Amino acid sequence: MAQEKKFKRTLVTTALPYANGPVHIGHLAGVYIPADIYTRYLRLRGEDVILVGGSDEHGVPITIKAQKEGVTPQDIVDRYHKLIKESMEGLGISFDVYSRTTSAIHRRTASDFFTTLYNKGEFIEKTSQQYYDEEADQWLADRYIVGTCPHCGNERAYGDQCESCGTSLNATDLIDPHSAITGNVPVLKETKHWYMPLDKWEPKLREWILEGHKEWRANVYGQCKSWLEGGLQPRAVTRDLNWGIPVPIEGAEGKVLYVWFDAPIGYISNTQELLPDSWERYWKDPESRIIHFIGKDNIVFHCLIFPAMLMAHGGYQLPDNVPANEFLNLEGEKISTSRNWAVWLHEYLADFPGKQDVLRYVLTANAPEAKDNDFTWRDFQARNNNELVAILGNFINRALVLTHKYFGGKVPPRHELADQETTALAEFKDVKETLGRNIETFHFREALKDAMSLARIGNKYLADTEPWKLAKTDMARVETILHVALQIAANLAIAFEPFLPFSAARLRAMLGMDSVNWDKLGDIDILPVGHTIEQPELLFEKIPDEDIDRQMQRLERIKQENIVNNFTPKAVAQPCTFDDFLKLDIRVGTVTACEKVKKADKLLQLTIDDGLKGRTIVSGIAKYYAPEDLVGRQVCFIANFPPRKLKGVESQGMVLSAEDADGRLVVIGPHGAVRPGVQVK
Ligand code: MF3
Ligand code: ZN
Repeated sequence: MAQEKKFKRTLVTTALPYANGPVHIGHLAGVYIPADIYTRYLRLRGEDVILVGGSDEHGVPITIKAQKEGVTPQDIVDRYHKLIKESMEGLGISFDVYSRTTSAIHRRTASDFFTTLYNKGEFIEKTSQQYYDEEADQWLADRYIVGTCPHCGNERAYGDQCESCGTSLNATDLIDPHSAITGNVPVLKETKHWYMPLDKWEPKLREWILEGHKEWRANVYGQCKSWLEGGLQPRAVTRDLNWGIPVPIEGAEGKVLYVWFDAPIGYISNTQELLPDSWERYWKDPESRIIHFIGKDNIVFHCLIFPAMLMAHGGYQLPDNVPANEFLNLEGEKISTSRNWAVWLHEYLADFPGKQDVLRYVLTANAPEAKDNDFTWRDFQARNNNELVAILGNFINRALVLTHKYFGGKVPPRHELADQETTALAEFKDVKETLGRNIETFHFREALKDAMSLARIGNKYLADTEPWKLAKTDMARVETILHVALQIAANLAIAFEPFLPFSAARLRAMLGMDSVNWDKLGDIDILPVGHTIEQPELLFEKIPDEDIDRQMQRLERIKQENIVNNFTPKAVAQPCTFDDFLKLDIRVGTVTACEKVKKADKLLQLTIDDGLKGRTIVSGIAKYYAPEDLVGRQVCFIANFPPRKLKGVESQGMVLSAEDADGRLVVIGPHGAVRPGVQVK
């Protein structure tokens, strides 16, 4: 709120998602939903605002995905651009333009931007040693080099990171590097690249952010501060790659712009695509402001690198705010595209048709604004059933049903207001103020709570005044109460428009409102007396347990698949001798009886014919075998463990089993029948 400056127009941008996969709830909660709320709010206030987005279609992850599937990078981005664009539309993210970085206009704009900086002498040229695959005749991006991590010994570390111990690496740190394309040992070759000297811009960036933008979110300001204090280094803005925008200068054949150089320029080219003649107003007029909505991993690019590019170019405005979010987890675990640990937007829209607003509501209520946050399906269900249905939906439905019951669907007149009305309306006014301020300062969770408390006020008002009880005795009072309730309903249609646009539109249709304007919030003369209200339909419906169970089962399945797909056998143990082996007396026995151990859901008690006196063994396999499955089978067991008591039963040995990747135990026995009591050697 440090900025009291009045702006003429606002450009809202959303991070361009990589077109190598669909959009998931993490993207939505972190970027697209808050940006959409903010933009819709400004539109409701009658401000000049545009929401600009698009797909990020360059970069190595896209080429890797293409190679894996045996298709071209263009095939990949065509597929995901379409999916992303359609699913965002499906959720009501109200982009004024949603384009892509493979468009001709973007290619030209990014290329010209580079040329301008080049001609101004803003780059430094440097040669360095990079890995090259001679057989593939191709430079190897960091992700294309696999080798042994010098820190933990993981043999499948990448040239930029070891995913086993999490360390960031340089490709040249890897022990025994190999090309991921051919498996060959790559060679080091000299290559020339162009660098942005970020160190040169450091003083300006310091002043602009550390002095000028103390009002930025603490996480954003803090991250910038620590980067600036660490000292900025020159950064390469070109790559040796065959997918991207060619470097537009001589002697740069086979090189492309680094994806993080071209992508943010996408904000400019997308604005140009939307407004070919007037785009500059949004970028160059000091009376315009630019707001970038992003996730926390994008902070350095939007707050330091892109601004340095804009300063080097000249003529552009810097962003006014960059409200970056932290991360959203799913059921307590980090969302991961490669592990399929996500709720995908296009799947949600198919599984929950007509329930766009429920997802918007839950993701806003749990937005990771100040810290990482968690999405759980149980919370999703509870918020729908206990908040959207029980408070907002219930109030609207009551008000409309009663209006039809008593007044044939026409807005009744109001008479003198009693205390109950004055109190409700006063509370209403207060909330309106904080609601607007919370949106303007990017506190969307709080703002949603405010909107919800407007619904609570309405719900409580009807519960307290109980118009259904007064219908026989005081019809004038009923008129006033329903008149006021309907005005509150009309207010809710305004207040919820930024958050729940589908429900707000349905509510407006039911109330016969043809326009909405934020300034009307708090007004109790929105619907004129005698105005016709449509038949009410339910705004929200309870979500049954079955729907949630189905989602939980899907996640459970994915978890199992991940465990199994990522299984790598443990390293082989220390050497041992044959004598060590002989110390274990392993024998075969036949199970003659088997039962569950009381008060222990994991344990089975096996009676085993061991060729001697027989013995009892307790084993933790009850989850995997029914007692009758084992009777008659032969199993291997260790015969010379000292007996011990488990849940009150003495166990005389241990049954051997293999533990599968998912933890499932499979009992070991001989492949042919043998005499009970023979030894395993
Ligand atoms: N594609 C990037 C990511 O998903 C974001 C790019 S934002 C832009 O992290 F500024 F480059 F457009
Ligand atoms: Zn490692």
